[in-house]
Amino acid sequence: MPEPVLEVKGLTRRFGAFTAVSDLGFEVQAGEIFGFLGPNGAGKSTTIRMLCGVLAPSSGEARALGRNLFTEADQVRAHMGYMSQKSSLLTDLTVAENLQFFGGLYGLEGRALASEVEFRLREMQVWEHRDLLVAALSTGERQRVALASATLHRPRILFLDEPTSGVDPLRRRLFWEAMDELVAEGMSILVTTHNLGEADQCDRLAFILGGKLMAYGRPRSLKESLGRQMIELRTEQFRDLQSAARAHPEVLAAVLLGRSVRLSLPAGLEPADLLNRLRLEGFAFEALPPEPPSLEDLFVDLVQRARVA
Ligand SMILES: Nc1ncnc2c1ncn2[C@@H]1O[C@H](COP(=O)(O)OP(=O)(O)OP(=O)(O)O)[C@@H](O)[C@H]1O
Ligand SMILES: [Mg+2]
Repeated sequence: MPEPVLEVKGLTRRFGAFTAVSDLGFEVQAGEIFGFLGPNGAGKSTTIRMLCGVLAPSSGEARALGRNLFTEADQVRAHMGYMSQKSSLLTDLTVAENLQFFGGLYGLEGRALASEVEFRLREMQVWEHRDLLVAALSTGERQRVALASATLHRPRILFLDEPTSGVDPLRRRLFWEAMDELVAEGMSILVTTHNLGEADQCDRLAFILGGKLMAYGRPRSLKESLGRQMIELRTEQFRDLQSAARAHPEVLAAVLLGRSVRLSLPAGLEPADLLNRLRLEGFAFEALPPEPPSLEDLFVDLVQRARVA
């Protein structure tokens, strides 16, 4: 196994008496798109800000590219790119002027800067907008310009904090294709998202809640680790069926999904008997074939379990 490009251990950040990030540990492997998930306030941005050197940790360690991220920051920082949750683009400059400005901060100049700016803007499919003010761009275009600006210095590790929030599904796909190209160039990416379709495309995920790591691994193994199967029952009596289903011991959860009840059952269980009992109670419904849990199911499960605990 090659050495991970990023290794985080015991990372903690307190704000007064409040602990926003608590004893967090994970690794990002070379060439990986690593997804960072968790509800609002989970501590995702705080973690990224510590790893990018914008915020000092209260305690913990992080190694990147074989160096200590907190004590040898200067040697590592040049190889890191960061796109913050709030766009850092200057809205009253044009696209090209923004990239020239940020390229200058990275120490690029002259012909090298000009060619890198053109390469990135073309790669992100925003070259034709180079003379527009950033303020005039759509959200999707703006995010791709921000990605271009975060990668001008060809970083080896890229931190993207909710890069696709507010971006439509088509442009979101474009953004992910751009990320794939960056990985093909040799970058490793840590990305936060609230979009579980995107999370499914990540090589591995960390799910954090209340600043703590709750689940960590490949999307598929995380879903399998739940040990559940999901069955959707289509019915006009969805509210009553939901409460009736909850009274059966094998029903681990029953949530409403439009005019359906989505049941969570133990993975190996044959559901016919349960469905018969519900029909005998007077419910009419159409049962869709059982399916493995989705990341959304996992997300809901983790949040609910944390509330109970
Ligand atoms: N400078 C600060 N001072 C005090 N509390 C802070 C500070 N920065 C963050 N927090 C708190 O830390 C917690 C985690 O915030 P953070 O921004 O990391 O969450 P997040 O997972 O990125 O959420 P979101 O999905 O909404 O972006 C929140 O409760 C937030 O209020
Ligand atoms: Mg955030």
